[in-house]
Amino acid sequence: EPMIITIDGPAGAGKSTVAKEISRRFGYFHLDSGALYRAIGYACSLKGADLNNLQEVISVAKSIKIELTEEGKVILNGRDVTWEIRKPEGGYLASQVARFKEIREVVVELLREMAKGKKIVIDGRDAGSYIFPEADLKIYLTATPEERAKRRYEELKKRGFNVSYEEVLKEVVERDERDRNRPFAPLVVPEGAIVIDTTGKSLETVISEISQLIKN
Ligand code: C5P
Repeated sequence: EPMIITIDGPAGAGKSTVAKEISRRFGYFHLDSGALYRAIGYACSLKGADLNNLQEVISVAKSIKIELTEEGKVILNGRDVTWEIRKPEGGYLASQVARFKEIREVVVELLREMAKGKKIVIDGRDAGSYIFPEADLKIYLTATPEERAKRRYEELKKRGFNVSYEEVLKEVVERDERDRNRPFAPLVVPEGAIVIDTTGKSLETVISEISQLIKN
């Protein structure tokens, strides 16, 4: 069995859902790398930091405490922000702070620390290309922008957030653009990754495809 499984891909491809389910079935710890960028972006907005000012963003990033629990909760300075950071605004804030090399270095160090001695499934944008290039199994999940926006929209609606499909689609497309075009550790298909297009596939189908890869 692989020790490190990476799942990368664009926004809303189902990475978190898949990572969570794989962790549950195979006994891995789920490292949601996006949650760290989201928590930092969210903390910046609470503190009124200028997202274009690296020094301000760094000082926020270094002054907060982020925890990822076994149950999949995101704790920021002792407060549960798991759902608060998933709003479209949270994705925007995350991708703004994720442009900075210095912020990425802080996050990567934290992730490597959290992973120590554990069997992990990590989902993100650069998990297989940059954070854990030595990973045993690398997956790249993708789907059409419309399908990805639809899934995210439905999940947010289910959670009681008042957003429109158009708003979610726009946010997803803009964010992919920003993630693919940033200079440091951009979104790419990692070398050696297995690409799975989930358009029109059920969660169960995707999970069983990945389960086969884990067992082989
Ligand atoms: O995966 P999630 O949608 O939660 O990620 C939010 C944002 O955080 C991404 O759009 C991206 O800008 C950033 N991110 C990143 N590298 C990762 C994970 C997330 O740059 N490994």
